[in-house]
Amino acid sequence: MYICLEGIDGSGKSTQLELLGKWLENCGFTVTPIREPTDSPVGKLIRHMLQDPKAKEEGFQRTLALLFAADRTLLMDNILVEEGLKRIVISDRSFYSSLAYQNGEEWIAQINQHSLEPDLVILLDLEVETAIRRCDGTDSFEDADFLESVRQRYLKLAQQHSFMVVNANSGVNKIHSDIKRIVAPKLGMCI
Ligand code: TYD
Repeated sequence: MYICLEGIDGSGKSTQLELLGKWLENCGFTVTPIREPTDSPVGKLIRHMLQDPKAKEEGFQRTLALLFAADRTLLMDNILVEEGLKRIVISDRSFYSSLAYQNGEEWIAQINQHSLEPDLVILLDLEVETAIRRCDGTDSFEDADFLESVRQRYLKLAQQHSFMVVNANSGVNKIHSDIKRIVAPKLGMCI
């Protein structure tokens, strides 16, 4: 089982991933948490490059798309295929982040063809303004515009690929309950 949380920056994925992992472990499952970008050398390079003020420009995004795909290919080879799929893999992001952030062109799907399709994608959706406030308060128009386009692409992907959409503005506990209600039946549990 490969479960993935998606959403714009500040949507609370990391917090919810941790809560989901603890809950699944309490239910007796063995859980492998992963996140993208990973901690591989490629993932570290990506995090470094994301600091560049030009990171949101189109040309830069093309380079990032290639690096994200490389980082993800390493992840698939090392973790998911070899050991992870014997367990429940819960992931902070997946190749759908590339489709949403690097603007869903066909070539992005092509360079990600070695990525596994998650069994379940949960989109934590919230307004950009709230997300930016939660991050660090940086509220440049460029950030807001960029994140708004990412949010819209996520909502479109959600329709196309049957993501489960959760309102990420409803408080940590409520969001966790919503996620549990979505995940439980997939694992044959009643809550
Ligand atoms: P993020 O999940 O915010 O990592 P962290 O909170 O650990 O720093 O991811 C870092 C950024 O990378 C975020 O702005 C989304 C972006 N990103 C992409 O643009 N494309 C991708 O394919 C992935 C996985 C992430």
